[in-house]
Amino acid sequence: MLLKESKIAGYVFAIFTPFESYIHHLGVAPTFQSKGLGTMLLKFAEKTLKQEGAKRINLFCSKDKIEYYKDRGWVFLENAACFEKYP
Ligand SMILES: CC(C)(COP(=O)(O)OP(=O)(O)OC[C@H]1O[C@@H](n2cnc3c(N)ncnc32)[C@H](O)[C@@H]1OP(=O)(O)O)[C@@H](O)C(=O)NCCC(=O)NCCS
Repeated sequence: MLLKESKIAGYVFAIFTPFESYIHHLGVAPTFQSKGLGTMLLKFAEKTLKQEGAKRINLFCSKDKIEYYKDRGWVFLENAACFEKYP
């Protein structure tokens, strides 16, 4: 979690497992967007997972965020699909 002026400006939630790791959520509050905080949080999570020994990191995002992650070095998986179920 990233605090600015005593407010939550953004957060990133990452999961490490020995097999696959994940960036599960990345968010920046609207008033703090486009100041580089999202990129900073993403890089922080990537670096931390790497230090923990992550071999590969996956993330899921809405289609309108594909370019955002591509621009930050992430590879779009053409053959991947995303599912959900409400148990
Ligand atoms: C996506 C998000 C995390 C980006 O955070 P941010 O702090 O604004 O991002 P940064 O400051 O690091 O980067 C800003 C740049 O990304 C670009 N960008 C933002 N959203 C984009 C998108 N959907 N597609 C492509 N580029 C995008 C901006 O135009 C800006 O470009 P510039 O640097 O050339 O001006 C933030 O907009 C957000 O929290 N959105 C709502 C929650 C969300 O969708 N989270 C992702 C779910 S996986």
